[in-house]
This record gives sequence, structure tokens and C-alpha cells, in this order.
Amino acid sequence: MEFHVSLVGRTDLTGQIYRQVAAAVLDGRLRPGQALPPSRELAARLEVSRNTVSAAYDRLTAEGFVSARTGSGTYVREGGFERPPEPAAGAELRPRAIWSRIKVPPTDVSEPRFDFRAGIPDVRMFPYASWRRLMSRRLRASAIGPPSYGDPAGHAGLRAALARHVGVSRAVRATADDVLITNGAQHAVDLIGRVLVEPGMCVAVEDPGYPPQRQLLRSLGARVAGVPVDSEGLVVDRIPREAKLVCVTPSHQFPLGVPMSLPRRTALLEWAERTGGVIVEDDYDSEFRFSGRPIEPVQNLDRTGRVIYVGSMSKVLLPTLRIGFLIAPRSLRPALRAARHVTDAHTSLPVQAALAEFVEEGLLARHIRRCRAAYADRYRRISAGLRRDFGGLLDVLPAEAGLHLCARLPEGTDDRAASERAAAGGVGIMPLSPFGRAGATPPGLVFGYGGIDASDVDEGLARLRECLGG
Ligand SMILES: Cc1ncc(COP(=O)(O)O)c(C=O)c1O
Repeated sequence: MEFHVSLVGRTDLTGQIYRQVAAAVLDGRLRPGQALPPSRELAARLEVSRNTVSAAYDRLTAEGFVSARTGSGTYVREGGFERPPEPAAGAELRPRAIWSRIKVPPTDVSEPRFDFRAGIPDVRMFPYASWRRLMSRRLRASAIGPPSYGDPAGHAGLRAALARHVGVSRAVRATADDVLITNGAQHAVDLIGRVLVEPGMCVAVEDPGYPPQRQLLRSLGARVAGVPVDSEGLVVDRIPREAKLVCVTPSHQFPLGVPMSLPRRTALLEWAERTGGVIVEDDYDSEFRFSGRPIEPVQNLDRTGRVIYVGSMSKVLLPTLRIGFLIAPRSLRPALRAARHVTDAHTSLPVQAALAEFVEEGLLARHIRRCRAAYADRYRRISAGLRRDFGGLLDVLPAEAGLHLCARLPEGTDDRAASERAAAGGVGIMPLSPFGRAGATPPGLVFGYGGIDASDVDEGLARLRECLGG
């Protein structure tokens, strides 16, 4: 990497070079043992005489910042240098207040022995060999795509493949033109918020719901209102009168797991039509359905173009791939595409192209079938175990799809403390109440089945029972 030096004017050139190298050594930008550019090369780059650079290097050597090795070059001296102090408190830059209230969950947590954490798929089941083959095919100059940037809406082949995929698997009505590829479902909500949310606009979300979604909407200037969820899903009658946008998870409510009943889905569409509101249908994990009849997406029932459907590869493939998509009514497409253009241009094209082939070759459908069978087995074992051994302690909520189920603890139980006790006993499990407004969500536990082997379920539940006591 080229070391950056910039000279101002034509005086004290040696001093300027000296000070910039010394500062870079002191604050760690140049590391011990790292080579300085040869004096001849730096002199040519800066359009100064070689003597000017040599004089700066001599001074740096004399003061112990660097040492010269005969015939080999000049290197930053090994051994520690005092770091200059951080800028005084008054000089700190201040982000908007909202960003000090949002906490990023730790990413370096160790895997619990029994992993019931929600929202993670089984990464061991990912078809690595096929993905490697498709990615390496894409990482050739002839296959890499345009020399500049790609279409902000995404890779044409992937848009077509995903439109067909959700058309078949989820009865979502879409053509390739309707699809915009994103870096996950959350990114889709970000784009939607950018094009629809005016400062102070009321946006309704489920309570309990997915916290990063309400935090994101708030950061975009929305006034976020939590709407209660019961055994039929979002309580449509409780959507505030002034709400203009509603975000819902109809197939598998997050985190309660209940599907939204048909009367509620119809009522939600009526709300949108009556008020001119917009529905964001977050279908983050509904490909895994174990029992009951598949429920129709709200997008499929919509006849007035008021629903934006959001999908994700995070649960069906890997969350770290960062791929999702949205399917928007025609009226919003130019704005969404423009928002994508000015934010981060588009999702990695080689990854999009590899995924397009992955879907076209039938590998996605096959992977989902394999996972569905494995998750169905775990789901049945967990729900049977909970009903058998946790009577009076956990009340299991009905769930027919997705990657997690939810169970309520007796009123008054501290579910965070229960989750901490479980963690101390080697059981990873999430408390329910933090997904809702403080004090508004009854205590419970959310059981994910992406991370736990079927053969570990019974032992994991027995361990959890011990940790919970009672
Ligand atoms: C309800 C819900 N929506 C969206 C997301 C985010 O998905 P993605 O990783 O595709 O951004 C999650 C992740 O857990 C989720 O639970």
C-alpha cells in the first residue's frame, strides 16, 4: 500500500515529510517492521529532490522512529511507541440521540451446548459444495458482469428466478420487473422507509415484534406505534387512526409464531384501502411449514396495489449471505430503485448471479425440502417435550411454520432472569418480553430449532427444566 504524504508550498519540505511519517508511526498507521517507500520513489512521487527525502529519513532514523538496513531499505523500528492521547472530550463528535439508545447485540458469543436461540438456521446444512461451484464460476472475468455498476434493482436472472420461486412456493404474484434485490429483509424495510416515511409519520408495527425494525423506522424519522398481537395475529382494530404504514409478519408472527387469521388479513387489506395506508408484509421465514394449510400471503389477496412483500434468504440459506428481496407495486418501483442507487448501488453481483443459478438449478427448492424435514422433526420433538414435561410452567403457543415457537411463562416470572439461568446451565434461549414494549409483553421463552440437533432436544429440554426449577 502506498504511504500518503502531502506537501504544502515549497518550504520546509524535509520537515513536512518528517512530521507526517513520525505522526503515522506514533498513531499506529505505520506498523513496526513496515517498510517506508524507497527515498528515490517517494521523491519522484512528491516531485522533490532525493536529498530532501533522505534528509527526512536521516532525521527519523536519528530520533529512533525508523532504522535503515543497508541495501534493503528503511523500516519502522520494532518496539512500542507511545500513542498520542485521544482528542479531549469536547472535541468528540455527537451522533443523533437515537443512536446512543440502540445497542448492538454481541456477535462474539460462544455457542451454547444446547442451542435453542431463535432466528438462526442450521448452517451445517448449507450446500457448501454447490455454492462454491457456482461462486467460482462467477468469479471469472468473462462471467463477472458489467465493468461498472449493475442495475440497482438487481441481477435480471435472479429477479426472474425469485419471482418464479415465490410464485410457486408462496403464491406471491410477481414478475421479474416487480422484484428488487436487497441485502436482506431489514434492508428492504430501510429502502421502503426511505421512500415512504415523512418526518413524524405514524408507522404501526407489531408489539411484540422485531426490535431492529422499529428502531430502523424510528431512525428514519417515523413515529412508531406498537399494535398488540393476539392468537389471530395483529389486532387490526388497534392500528392508530393516523398510521400510514403497517409492518406485519402474517405467516409466522415474530416472535409469537402465530399465523394471522384470514379474517384479520382481510381486515388489514380493508384498512389499507379505507385509509390509503401501505402494508409491508415481512415473510422472513415462512418457507418452513410443518402442519396446517399454507396461508395465503396478504400480497396475493391484495387487489389495490397497497402491499409490499419482503422476503429473505437469511433463514432459508444463511443470514451472513445478506440477500433478500422486495416485491413492490409498480407505483413505487422507480423511487425504490433510485433509493438503492444512492445508498449502496446494489447487492454484490457475483453473489446474485450465483444465487440465480442456484435457484434455476432447483438447488434452493431441494435445500428447503431437506431443511423443512429436519426442522419439522425438531419442532415436533420440542413441542412434544414442552407439553409433556413443562406442564404448569410453559404454555406453548400454536405455530405451524417458521424456525421458532414461543411458550409463555407464568405471569410475574422474570423471563430475562430465566434466560440467564438457562445460559449458565449451557442452554441458549431467548426471553420473550424484550421483543415488546417495557411491561407490555407477558413473560415467555422463544425456542428456535435451527441450531439444535434433533438428538439433543430431549437432553436440552431436561437441562432447561432444571435451570428453570419449579
Ligand atoms: C421478523 C424478522 N424480520 C426481518 C429479519 C431480518 O432478516 P434479514 O437477515 O433478511 O435482514 C428478521 C431476522 O431475524 C426477523 O426475525
